[in-house]
Parts: sequence; structure tokens; C-alpha cells
Amino acid sequence: CGIVGYIGHRNAVPVVLNGLRRLEYRGYDSAGIAVMNEDGLSLIKCKGKVSDLEEKINGTLKESGIGIGHTRWATHGVPNDVNAHPHASNSGKIVLIHNGIIENYASIKEALAGRGVAFKSDTDTEVLVNLIEDIKNAEGISLAKAVRSALNQVVGAYAIAVFEVDNPKKVVVAKKGSPLVLGIGENEFFIASDATPFLEYTKTAVYLEDDEMAVVEIGKEVEVRSIPSNKAIDPYVHQLKMDIEAIEKGGYDHFMLKEIYEQPKSIRDTLRGRLLPEQGLIKMGGVFEYREKIVNAERIIIIGCGTSWHAGLVAEYLFEDLARIPVEVEYASEFRYRNPVITEKDVVIAISQSGETADTLAAIKLAKEKGATIFGICNVVGSSIARETHAGAYTHAGPEIGVASTKAFTAQVAVLALMALRIAHDRGVLKQSYYHQLLTELDSIPEKIEKMLESDAQARHISELYKDAQNFLYLGRGFNFPVALEGALKLKEISYIHAEGYPAAEMKHGPIALIDENMPVVVIAPKSGQYEKIVSNIQEVKARNGKVIAVVSNGDSEIARMADHVIEIEETAEVFSPLLTTIPLQLLSYHIAVMRGCNVDQPRNLAKSVTVE
Ligand code: G6P
Repeated sequence: CGIVGYIGHRNAVPVVLNGLRRLEYRGYDSAGIAVMNEDGLSLIKCKGKVSDLEEKINGTLKESGIGIGHTRWATHGVPNDVNAHPHASNSGKIVLIHNGIIENYASIKEALAGRGVAFKSDTDTEVLVNLIEDIKNAEGISLAKAVRSALNQVVGAYAIAVFEVDNPKKVVVAKKGSPLVLGIGENEFFIASDATPFLEYTKTAVYLEDDEMAVVEIGKEVEVRSIPSNKAIDPYVHQLKMDIEAIEKGGYDHFMLKEIYEQPKSIRDTLRGRLLPEQGLIKMGGVFEYREKIVNAERIIIIGCGTSWHAGLVAEYLFEDLARIPVEVEYASEFRYRNPVITEKDVVIAISQSGETADTLAAIKLAKEKGATIFGICNVVGSSIARETHAGAYTHAGPEIGVASTKAFTAQVAVLALMALRIAHDRGVLKQSYYHQLLTELDSIPEKIEKMLESDAQARHISELYKDAQNFLYLGRGFNFPVALEGALKLKEISYIHAEGYPAAEMKHGPIALIDENMPVVVIAPKSGQYEKIVSNIQEVKARNGKVIAVVSNGDSEIARMADHVIEIEETAEVFSPLLTTIPLQLLSYHIAVMRGCNVDQPRNLAKSVTVE
């Protein structure tokens, strides 16, 4: 979910609504706003997107000095008007927005119901706002004190913003497990899940840490306190570097397409200052602060979710092949709950675009408790995972707004390639000449992607032919097996076509039964790698009348003769091929989804940043 709030001299209505639009990537199954003005409290919310909310508001909200808003990704209770946030307390005097989950809401709800509180929704959030009111009334204390006391009773994760109808000069906010940042302007404050809602107003920000709360009040400095101890905390004030252009579409129809096309630039940004081929160097200050740990690691455990987990799988091939360190890759959600064997000798690499994924964050905390050294690879600067890890490297891909991850994935793979090369070099396991050759090759990747993007027409043509397919199979071997998984994930995420990724050789152990003339099979078959083997796999598909769409190296006439369609890519070293083979698969899923009339940037049921487990 995304939360946003404003208090100050501007009209809160457009500030909150624009902010919600920027945060929609975090969830978009319902939205709502609460503002205070001379007419008192107005609370409008509905199922659907922020645009549906605006339609419902229909210009009826008067200028207001205070407002909070929410865009939801449902956890408790189906997406409908009643379950949408903000939620007001029983008396209607306290209004609250919440991102996260209150795990012990059921027992609190029961106790409150016993005291006569009537609930309108099925949400855990309505329980929290009523708990705050109950405490406030019983003890006759301030809102901030009641919030603190309530939060000390709840178990779970939250980022909340809450205000009182009778005192609309301040907002109380608190954070545990879900992100919350304050934007500090002149005599005005912004509250948001990330900094994008207020970038055009102020670059001064305070990121709350877990177990911290703050009171923002007109005419006063921000007051931050520890929730458990109530001790005052001196907040660290950040100056943000992000530009507003980076979060706008810039002439593209969709953020996803813009982000696909940005990849030459984003990978250059990832490599900048780190990859120095002329000097034969790779510099990664953050990671190699812990040089001894990572260079001498006996094994590396990589954790992540979704697309980030796929980047981890590519890294398994990279680290084992280049640096000769055994690697295990795990879904963060499985890792954390299976009592994993971890010791102080272990090195864990956590990969996350948002840096906020709840399962990944919890897995890091577990590994940390057991003494492992944790490296983080995040895209969002200052995110929870970036702060929770011992060391790490930012991917520097810039804000990724399309829910389906594209440029963040290739940036992750680029960072992991840098790490693998540097570790391999420091361990002395790579031939010098090969090492130098790879540095030069990696440096040329952005330019090669630029060339490949010129051939977008091929992907578009193929999409036209297969947009009505019910199923897709994606096959790859070696370094391109994870790319097959990622290609299938992209397609299912945004076009809702069922798709599966498989190691090409595994096809004969099951999926081959699905192949007939209606089954499109995307085969990733560049010249480098196990070329002859994959040619045989293509023949196996053709022998059963499947339709083959092959991603091949420039000028490959052998596969062109067998396959129904080919998409050509530039040649590169096998170890870097995922950086190129991924691109046509992104384009294919994008075009198919657009042709099917799907909302590519905000696919149904998904959210970009999943801050619940
Ligand atoms: C969500 C997104 C995916 C993403 C995954 C992990 O499910 O929809 O695109 O890959 O979370 O997110 P992270 O921010 O940790 O990379």
C-alpha cells in the first residue's frame, strides 16, 4: 500500500491526490482521502484506482490545510469501498491510514467490540484506529501518547499517519516494517511511503526507522521518538538527489516501455565509476569494505523474491563459473521459515529492487542474528534493506515505476557480474587475459542493448501473431535458464497468459506433453553456451509441431531454418548473455500485453513493493 499526507499552507487535496498517483505502483485496488476544512471532515474512498477516486470526488473537496490519502493492496478484507482507507474511529474523531498488517487484530477487535465499538469494515486498520481512540478516551491523554500506547500493544508491521478532527494542526506518524518518509518544507510537512509525492516541493527528508514515531505540527520542528522507550531521537536529515523527470513518462506510452528503453543508460549508470577496463579494475567501495569476508567465503547464499530471485539465479552461474564459490539461491520466504543452517562464515546476498520486500527483510534479520555477513543489492537508496545490511551496492537504475521489473533486473545482473569478476580476480582463479577481456566486454553491453532496441519491430510482429495464445513455454540452458523463468514471469504478470519457464533439457521430462501446434515456445539460443544442445531441443519442439520463437545471435542461419521466428541479438560472452537475451523477452511481453488491452504498468492483483509477508 502507499500512504501520503500533507499539512501546511497549500491545498492538501491536489498534493495528496498527485502523491497517490505516484504511489500507485505500491497497490491500486482501492484508494481514499480524508481532508479537513471549514466544512469539517470529508472522507471519500472507493474500490479501484486513484482515477476512480478522483471521479468520485468530482471536484467537491474544498481547499484544505491538512489531508491524508491511501492507495491499497488488500491484505485483510476484499477490495471494496468500505475496506478502503482512510478509516475513522467509531466517534468519527480520529482518522488513520495504514500500510502493513496488524497480526493480533482479532483479539483486540474482540475486546473493543466487548466495550461497544461497532466495526464497519473487515480491516485490521479499523481495529487500530479504534484502539487508539479507546486508549485516548480512557486515559484522557494526547493523540501522540495514545498512538504510542496502542502501538506498544500491537504485533505486526505498519506505517501509519493519523490526525484528530478536533485538532487538525498536527499529524502523528509511526513506522515499523513498512517505509515512511517525511518531507520537510517551509512551514509545511509531507508524509509518504517514498519521496516521490513531494519531490517538486522539497528535497529535505527524514526517513523514520523501525519503532520510531513522529509528530509533525505547523510552526514546530519535527519531533521523533522511540515507540518502546519514548526517548527523543535526533533525526538524520537527508538531502534528496532524485529529479522529478526521472519519475515521469517522458513521451512513452507506458513506464514499462520507457524503462525497457532506458536500459543502455541504466546499465551505464550501474557500471559508472565501478568498471574501469583500461586500468583493469573493478571498484565497489561498499561491498569490498568487507573484502575478506566475501573473497574468502566458503559459500554464498542469495535471497530475494520475484524478479530479484531470478537475478540471484543468474548470479549463481556467475559466481560459480567465474569466482568458483558455491552458491545457493533461495526464495526469501522459504529461507526464513525453514530453520536454515547459517553460521558466521556464511555470506548472504539479498537482492531487492524496492529494498522493502517484507520476506526479504525478515530473511536478512534472521541471517544477521545467526552471525552471517549480509550484502544488499537494492535500487531504492535509503530503503529498509539497504539500511539493514552490513554492506552492499546500489544498482543505480533510477526509479522503476512499471510494476513488472525490467531495468532493475538488468541492473541487478550487472552489479552481480561486477562482484563476481572482482571476487574472481581477488581469489586469483581467473586467467588475467580472460579477466581483461571480460571487463571490456561488460563495458560494451549498453551499446549492444542500444542496437538491439532498434529491432523492436520483430518483437512487435511476433506479438501480433501470438497475442491470443493461451499458454507459452520458455526454454533456456545454463546462464539463460533464469532468463527463461524471467521471460515467462514477465508475460504472465502483464498479459495474464499462462507461461512457464524451464531448463531446455528438462522439457522432455514433462512439459513436452503440452506441445502441439498451438503452443508457442520461446527458446533462448545464443551462439555462446550449449548451442548444439539447444538446437536439439528446438528440433524436439518442431517434431511435435510446436511454434518456435528463437532468440539467436546475429546471423544465425541454422536456427533460422528450423524456427518459426527468430529475434536476433548482439553477440557477447556467455556469462553476460542474460543482459542481452532478457531484452527481447521484455519487449515481447510488453507488446502482447498492450495488444490484449491490459494495463501494463499496473497489472491486476500485483504491487511493486510487497511490504507484507
Ligand atoms: C513484487 C513485484 C515484483 C518483484 C518482487 C520483489 O512481487 O511485483 O516485480 O520482483 O516484488 O521485489 P523487490 O523490490 O524485493 O525486488
